[in-house]
Amino acid sequence: MGKKRVLSGMRPTGPLHLGHLVGALSNWVDLQDSYECLFMVADWHALMSEYENYEKLRDYIYDNVIDWLACGVDPEKAVIFLQSEVKEHLDMYMLFSILTPLGWLERCPTYKEQLQNLKTRNIQTHAFIGYPVLQAADILIYEAEVVPVGEDQIPHLELAREIVRRANYHFGLNLPEPQPLLTQVPRLPGLDGRKMSKSYGNVINLSEEEGAIRKKVSKMITDPERIKRSDPGHPEICSVYLYHKVFSQDEVKNIESACRAAQIGCVECKRRLADRIVERLAPIKDRRRYYLGHMDDVQAILESGARRAREIASSVWAKVRRQIWGED
Ligand code: TRP
Ligand code: SF4
Repeated sequence: MGKKRVLSGMRPTGPLHLGHLVGALSNWVDLQDSYECLFMVADWHALMSEYENYEKLRDYIYDNVIDWLACGVDPEKAVIFLQSEVKEHLDMYMLFSILTPLGWLERCPTYKEQLQNLKTRNIQTHAFIGYPVLQAADILIYEAEVVPVGEDQIPHLELAREIVRRANYHFGLNLPEPQPLLTQVPRLPGLDGRKMSKSYGNVINLSEEEGAIRKKVSKMITDPERIKRSDPGHPEICSVYLYHKVFSQDEVKNIESACRAAQIGCVECKRRLADRIVERLAPIKDRRRYYLGHMDDVQAILESGARRAREIASSVWAKVRRQIWGED
């Protein structure tokens, strides 16, 4: 009792990778004890951009949930559910759509960026421009106050707060203004130094085989000015170093000074990083294997999660209906 409510979500558009582990899942696991947590598979959001490949949706949903469980998201503590299984999201979405000026959505930086980047897909649709409206509904149908997200989602949270203010003002509601909770860990770049993204092929998946991990790490881009083994390195511009900061916390100081003094070579440095990643992923992969053999458990977790989510969502929606429609 008395714990603040957290809601977060992920779109099931492909296998999860180290970026999801470091940027979101470790954080979710840490929040489970101090907050009432709801973790949602945003399958409607996935369909908005991936409807041309909808056949893969089901597999990605299960694969992602298995990764969440394998990383330590605990169904005894947190509610794990599918967005599309709780209809009240769409009620709230419609209500919010009524109040959201098109200009707010057209100006949203993530929308403009996606139109530029996803040229291969037809996302000039009614639903896609409303993406942040559904996201606001996801949060407010649970009256969640805290939303752990990456920096890229900040504009969506800002929009959600504006929409809530409008809804409270127009309809005399009393919905909370949700606050983002940013992860402390610095964002990992992709293996090639660009933004980490599965479409660039610069990621290590949580299910990656050891051989593939070692191969990928050995090809990572390092300090371009360090050509000979005897050249001193600049860890601050090297992606391998950024990864060590996250995966080798107890050793990272040594690595930094050894690199600057040319006491360690890049090959050795990468070998150590690969060891760390392999070590970190080993228990996750074991648990993944367990759940892959126990799909009934996964199914049951999603069913009981949806039941609990519906309880909360239907009571929030009942309040809204009473306020606007005057019904009991
Ligand atoms: N847009 C989020 C992302 O791509 C996913 C998401 C959907 C979400 N609904 C949400 C995140 C509600 C937080 C809260 O990462
Ligand atoms: Fe990067 Fe390590 Fe090479 Fe230094 S030694 S440049 S940190 S890979």
